[in-house]
Amino acid sequence: MQFVQEGSAKIRVQKVSVVSKSMGVFYNPVMQLNRDLTIAVLEAVPQTHLSIADPLAGTGIRAIRLLKELPGSKIKSIAINDYGPNAARAIRKNFALNKISLGKKAGISCLDANIFLLNSFGFDYIDIDPFGTPNPYLDAAIKRLSRDGILAVTATDTAALAGTFPEACLRKYWAMPQRGSLQHEIGLRILIRKVQLIGAQYEKALIPIFSYSKEHYLRAFLQCTKGKKFVDGILRNHGTFRGAGPLWLGNLWDIPLVKKMGSLSQKKFSGEFTSFIRIIGKEASIPSVGFFDIHKVCEKLSLRAVPRTESILGAIRQKGHAAARTHFNDCGIRTSMAFEDFEKIVANLGKGRE
Ligand SMILES: C[S@@+](CC[C@H](N)C(=O)[O-])C[C@H]1O[C@@H](n2cnc3c(N)ncnc32)[C@H](O)[C@@H]1O
Repeated sequence: MQFVQEGSAKIRVQKVSVVSKSMGVFYNPVMQLNRDLTIAVLEAVPQTHLSIADPLAGTGIRAIRLLKELPGSKIKSIAINDYGPNAARAIRKNFALNKISLGKKAGISCLDANIFLLNSFGFDYIDIDPFGTPNPYLDAAIKRLSRDGILAVTATDTAALAGTFPEACLRKYWAMPQRGSLQHEIGLRILIRKVQLIGAQYEKALIPIFSYSKEHYLRAFLQCTKGKKFVDGILRNHGTFRGAGPLWLGNLWDIPLVKKMGSLSQKKFSGEFTSFIRIIGKEASIPSVGFFDIHKVCEKLSLRAVPRTESILGAIRQKGHAAARTHFNDCGIRTSMAFEDFEKIVANLGKGRE
């Protein structure tokens, strides 16, 4: 065993050379950004006195961080669950280590996540953070999500969503993925549509407020609005894109929320959080589906020199269009400019460098 400090939480975790599902109680340090962003979203949304569910809690790190790092007014209660044989004991020990008492605000259970959710009276925030696909938990989570609740969903089955196994994507997400520069954005939009379709059955419109792709996973936070007309509005925003889909064609981010997240004290978060939220802060203001890949364009035009990204961004803006880097791809530019005009800019700047 070893002690790990993440944010304000200190937890006991198994010492392993490789993080895997077979760990006694699962903890992945790579997911610190996932947890940082969770705290930032919940701090930035206007809602307070939230009843929170962490149905797949692992060591309890997420719940501990929420309790320690969010302002006291944010959380009314937090229900922590994991069916792993050692999880409940580990969570109890980790709560004690962090001097958080159970009972008042927080409770622990050791049930199948669906039973835990369905046995409850419902929650204002539910965080589905599974191994692989969130599919098995979507129905129960959406049923128990309050009328204006927030659902967070992680998917680590990127091989299906990003197109390595298209048949798996069709089976699991009812949509055709696409390999290539846009694979993660397309996968994320396919995931969002799947969550929305489950929501539609219960007249719950689930609108993305913060979505992203990172490392081996995709994640979306969706705000629920109850009502047929809102659901119909969501469904009108489903369609295909360059042969992929059907997928969500609407916005991936709520711009004021992203701005608020960027303005939170960065001290409590990792350095990775700061740079990540800065990039998303800029790209969120450009409501395009997809982006252009500089390297792909250079290849197509047989340019020997790749223009500097900053020069391309400057030239696009000079023509009166919005442009920003994208967190999805280091070579990507999100812009309102038409592809042909973008190509001309890259060609001119590229030839200038040869
Ligand atoms: C990816 S880990 C969760 C990590 C945790 N949320 C965190 O931030 O560190 C998934 C957890 O779900 C638990 N789990 C898997 N299937 C479950 C089920 N059907 N019901 C309850 N827990 C389950 C596993 O024991 C594992 O601890």
